[in-house]
Amino acid sequence: MSFNNYKEKIEEGDTVILYMSNNLYAIDVHPVIKNKKGELVENVYQTTFGALKVRNIIGAEYGSRVELSKGWGHVLQPTPELWSLTLPHRTQIIYTPDISMILMQLDLVPGSVVIEAGTGSGSLTHALVRRVRPRGRVHTFDFHEHRAALAAEEFHAHGIAEFVTAKHRDVCQSGFGEELNGRADAVFLDLPSPWTGVAHAVAALKDTGQ
Ligand SMILES: C[S@@+](CC[C@H](N)C(=O)[O-])C[C@H]1O[C@@H](n2cnc3c(N)ncnc32)[C@H](O)[C@@H]1O
Repeated sequence: MSFNNYKEKIEEGDTVILYMSNNLYAIDVHPVIKNKKGELVENVYQTTFGALKVRNIIGAEYGSRVELSKGWGHVLQPTPELWSLTLPHRTQIIYTPDISMILMQLDLVPGSVVIEAGTGSGSLTHALVRRVRPRGRVHTFDFHEHRAALAAEEFHAHGIAEFVTAKHRDVCQSGFGEELNGRADAVFLDLPSPWTGVAHAVAALKDTGQ
């Protein structure tokens, strides 16, 4: 739940960025995990600089130094920028320099309603959420069912689900849903054929939308 608010200390369930010698690793803070046989085992995160017993960082301060078996690193609170550099790639993603331009050109502010398709790996989605929360909302769509489900799980695990609706849908065929007609301040399409979604985007935009 570490993407939502700034926190002093690491708690179970957080996602933490481990920074070591210019390498970044995203770690889900669970003291035990299931192995391939379905048995609960100690969660030991392996890096090229040795192993980290994940239970040992629970209660540590964000930004503090932690010891691994063959070295040390720092445990950082995740940001959308760090997440883009560490997330599990399910698709190509958009990175921070382009995301900055997108947020600016869409004129997004806290309170904006923004539609995104496709969700992909959720890289842009995390940055959109930070920009529009707490009163705004992101509606994100992907036509790949498993990908859409994994993204929704991640938003929940990261504590940002209250700001984002993730749906499985082909937006070029079916649009964004009547309930969003005339409601969006902005629509962003990262799709192979974005022009096929333009008519739906126009329907979803407010008169003042981008
Ligand atoms: C390049 S990825 C998006 C990456 C995302 N912007 C990010 O930063 O993580 C494109 C995604 O669009 C989805 N997609 C392609 N055509 C679509 C359509 N017609 N409707 C909804 N999703 C679509 C794909 O399944 C894929 O996950």
